[in-house]
Amino acid sequence: MTNTYKLFEKTELSQLSLQNRIVMAPMTRSRATADHIPTDIMTTYYGQRSDAGLIITEGVAPSPNGAGYPRIPGIYSDEQRDAWKSVVEKVHSNGGKIFMQLMHTGRISHKLNMPDDAEILAPSPVPFTNEKMYTDQEGPQDYPVPEKMTNDKIESTIQEYVDASKRAIEAGFDGVEVHGANGYLIEQFLAPNTNTRTDNYGGSIENRNRFAIEVSKAVAEAIGKEKTGIRLSPYGVFNGIEPHNELDKQYTELTKALNEIGLLYIHIVDHSAMGTPKVPDSIKEAIKDHFSNGAIILSGGYNGAEEANRDIVENKGDLIAFGRPFISNPDLVYRLKHNIELAAPDHDTFYTPGPEGYIDYPEAES
Ligand SMILES: Cc1cc2nc3c(=O)[nH]c(=O)nc-3n(C[C@H](O)[C@H](O)[C@H](O)COP(=O)(O)O)c2cc1C
Repeated sequence: MTNTYKLFEKTELSQLSLQNRIVMAPMTRSRATADHIPTDIMTTYYGQRSDAGLIITEGVAPSPNGAGYPRIPGIYSDEQRDAWKSVVEKVHSNGGKIFMQLMHTGRISHKLNMPDDAEILAPSPVPFTNEKMYTDQEGPQDYPVPEKMTNDKIESTIQEYVDASKRAIEAGFDGVEVHGANGYLIEQFLAPNTNTRTDNYGGSIENRNRFAIEVSKAVAEAIGKEKTGIRLSPYGVFNGIEPHNELDKQYTELTKALNEIGLLYIHIVDHSAMGTPKVPDSIKEAIKDHFSNGAIILSGGYNGAEEANRDIVENKGDLIAFGRPFISNPDLVYRLKHNIELAAPDHDTFYTPGPEGYIDYPEAES
């Protein structure tokens, strides 16, 4: 039986026509070269999944300083831009739309993973001490103590986001998603345990929100607010972020500022399905209420059409993102529509190089 849910209906996201309300969530898969250049198998991978209404790419480094993981792709050179073109062309030729997620890893980096001239920067010299960073050369390593960003570095980093966004548009992307979630550079500014500054960029909610707002504004001005979204993870604990008791106030203030800029969407992360504390419904509702000019994408833990459709019908969000189900089900939209059982992903090949566990998941037999 075929589902006739709203989830599968065409929709407009500002000027963008989407073939359904299903989003492929951004997922780092580490299939670029050691020099952070996209590869042909990435074109195959995204092409296979282009039945999604909107694909958001894996986190892409806007700067050598943001390329903290091995083999993540970048968008800080013309060579990288040109290599992305075939990915975009493939997705577009299948009727899909695609945004690039700009992920600056900040302190979640290791020199061995990065270009030679890269610097490991963060709002404050606070290292992540609970886990190790994987490197291809020497396996797991301690995270370094990052260098505290000067005001000049903050300015040049914002410019890197702008240049990266322009390159993404030149490559044909429909827009960019600023990664403000999951403990990377922008959330390192948002969170008081990673931002201990006492200048304009730290010490108060207004100051800790400043970098996120400035990056969003600069990108929106460079490529268009209708082409700029942001991902946020209130109450997230990934990569050593510690929740604090003013989170509701902080994210409400942040949302108001992003609404004023006129960003296309806020993409809310809820990783409770991955074992982290639940994100209270109240903060999701507050973000939605204060973001009247744009759309809300909800993500985390969706495994079927019914629950995803319910949250759209109940007006909790406009689009629903699926992450892990897209890894192992290239034809996820078809499977959801026809109630076909979903295949489980193989965690062992999430970040390994090469085609295995990447482009070899079969489609369901129709
Ligand atoms: C292998 C893998 C890589 C991921 N990489 C990213 C990333 O680059 N950027 C990001 O914002 N989230 C990333 N995530 C989080 C997902 O976008 C998503 O929020 C998470 O998987 C929860 O959704 P799900 O329950 O549908 O999988 C990643 C998740 C996985 C499983």
